[in-house]
Amino acid sequence: MKKIGIMTTGGDCSGLNTVIQRLYRGASLRGWQVIGVLDGTDGLCETPPRIIKFNDETLPIEAARLAGSFLHSGRVQALNFETAAKSGKIDRFNKQLRKSLLDLKLDAMVLIGGNGSLSLAWCNKEIYTGLQLVCIPKTIDMDIPLTDKTIGFNTAVQQLTSFCDQLMLTARSHHRWFVTQTMGRECGQLALNAGIAIGATAILIPEIKFDVDALIRHIKSAPTDYGIILVSEGISLRGHSGRPADMISRKLTAAGIVNRTAYPEHTQRVGDTTAADRILAARMADCALHAIENNETYVMTAIKDCTCKTVSLQDFFESGSITADPHIPDVKTSDAYVSPDDPLLDIATDLGIYIGESK
Ligand code: F6P
Repeated sequence: MKKIGIMTTGGDCSGLNTVIQRLYRGASLRGWQVIGVLDGTDGLCETPPRIIKFNDETLPIEAARLAGSFLHSGRVQALNFETAAKSGKIDRFNKQLRKSLLDLKLDAMVLIGGNGSLSLAWCNKEIYTGLQLVCIPKTIDMDIPLTDKTIGFNTAVQQLTSFCDQLMLTARSHHRWFVTQTMGRECGQLALNAGIAIGATAILIPEIKFDVDALIRHIKSAPTDYGIILVSEGISLRGHSGRPADMISRKLTAAGIVNRTAYPEHTQRVGDTTAADRILAARMADCALHAIENNETYVMTAIKDCTCKTVSLQDFFESGSITADPHIPDVKTSDAYVSPDDPLLDIATDLGIYIGESK
């Protein structure tokens, strides 16, 4: 009989509970024992580690569609990779994580995390020596190398689409524009996908340079006098500071374009998990359980060419763009961005959406 642990780390998103429930179900059918680590690495580094034991009551199937993480994702002030690195306590923190894993006598840990957590896991791999580490990629940002899909992205696109669909109606009534700022960090996937879904007039993403005068001309020559300009939070405007949507809004106002800003914020990370995300969660949970059966370690589940398979964490890390973590000193993360070959870029242009000046 195997004993496996499950933990969620980093920002939450819809679909986490579906993965946890599917992992628990598949593991129990195999006769394995499953524990959940509460609050990610924060809970793991406590003595004793904060855990819950799963049974069919703790995460009923009807609750598996709900947003958030049933296991929580950590407290901002707790001792974690970020606070430990900033206060010079990283060695003590790593040792404590290692000790907790040994105390729990786990055969495998399933880590459900984003590119930051997965990069940290690879760069501190000694912590997991002697047990199997299997990762499942989740994020609304879709910035994880080597996988075409991440848990939570589809629901986030749906949430953003619904939000903008509503704005479009009031925009139409008042003959005005909404500059709407999306999440996504340095990756424009969320804005690009939702922008295509709603028929945005313009989509500004960090990967593509844009020209404000060209944007203004585009809006002024649009067939409607209302609509949505989707602005990804990662864009910048030379010589300007403040929130990206505010910056663009001020430019439009100065050009006589009547507009308002809108910030869907964390509503992009919640909402009942879409069927597509639930199916993805089931596929990735199943793939992770097979990986544990096959004694794989330091791997991540990934969707490539419609197939769910494992890829090595080393390949995940090395195939992305490796940059300094903005929050944790001396830590590198592996990032993915919208590729210049992304077919949605051509579709946007073909459909008359302003997407920027160069790919
Ligand atoms: O990485 C997920 C994400 O939602 C980003 O899109 C966003 O910039 C960030 O997390 C928000 O983080 P917080 O919840 O700490 O405000």
